[in-house]
Amino acid sequence: MPSRAPINRIVVADPAALALTAAQRLLARIEANTGRIAICLTGGSSPKQLYRLLAGDPWSKRIPWDRVHWFIGDERFVSPADPLNNMAMARGIFLDHFAPKDHIHPILTDVATPDQSAERYERELQSFYGADDLDHARPLFDLVLMGIGPDGHTASLFPGYPAVNETRHWVVGVPQAHVEPFVPRVTLTLPALASCREMLFELAGSGKRAILAKLSTDESLPANRARSIGETVLLVDQAALGEETA
Ligand code: 6PG
Repeated sequence: MPSRAPINRIVVADPAALALTAAQRLLARIEANTGRIAICLTGGSSPKQLYRLLAGDPWSKRIPWDRVHWFIGDERFVSPADPLNNMAMARGIFLDHFAPKDHIHPILTDVATPDQSAERYERELQSFYGADDLDHARPLFDLVLMGIGPDGHTASLFPGYPAVNETRHWVVGVPQAHVEPFVPRVTLTLPALASCREMLFELAGSGKRAILAKLSTDESLPANRARSIGETVLLVDQAALGEETA
């Protein structure tokens, strides 16, 4: 089960500073590993500014693309051609321009059910990792990026849904979403997401104020239960905290 290590909260001025700090942390994780690197991306709108940054100078030149593998923490069960598809968003913004094709690991949705898609991604992750059981001494990912939804969900782990309590599987299907977009999902589970050196949450804008306040009072929310076995960082801007920028 994920550990309950304290979260490291970093406050920055605005979304631009947030993307810059996230890029610096991502690069630091990459530079700390001289071998094969695994980054788990996230969907939604929060990471888009970071992805745009990674597509430009100097970031794209600093990433050793031949050593980095890119995964996704959850996917909407829609085709890659659908604008709702999380990995397609990341591919369109930066991955397809730089990453070797076989280093991009989407959750494939060309099967009948989210469960089948989940089973296949679980096998892919286990084959990449080289074992069917996660070892705390050998995290699956170097970095896991996360967002937080208005109901306290993270990845596609919604409050009160069985997926949040899954301990055996690394990936599960979620037949119905709790918030928009109301499409079925496929999500990594808490133990799989936890298996990382760093889990980095990005929260920006006044629209995140309410959920940020709720997180401090409700320990049971999925975003509060998602913690790295290494370091967990909450990167937040002043608007999300309810503070005015100077
Ligand atoms: C998804 C996400 C989800 C997202 C949060 C925050 O597929 O929707 O992976 O967990 O990160 O809902 O979304 P925003 O960044 O759009 O606020």
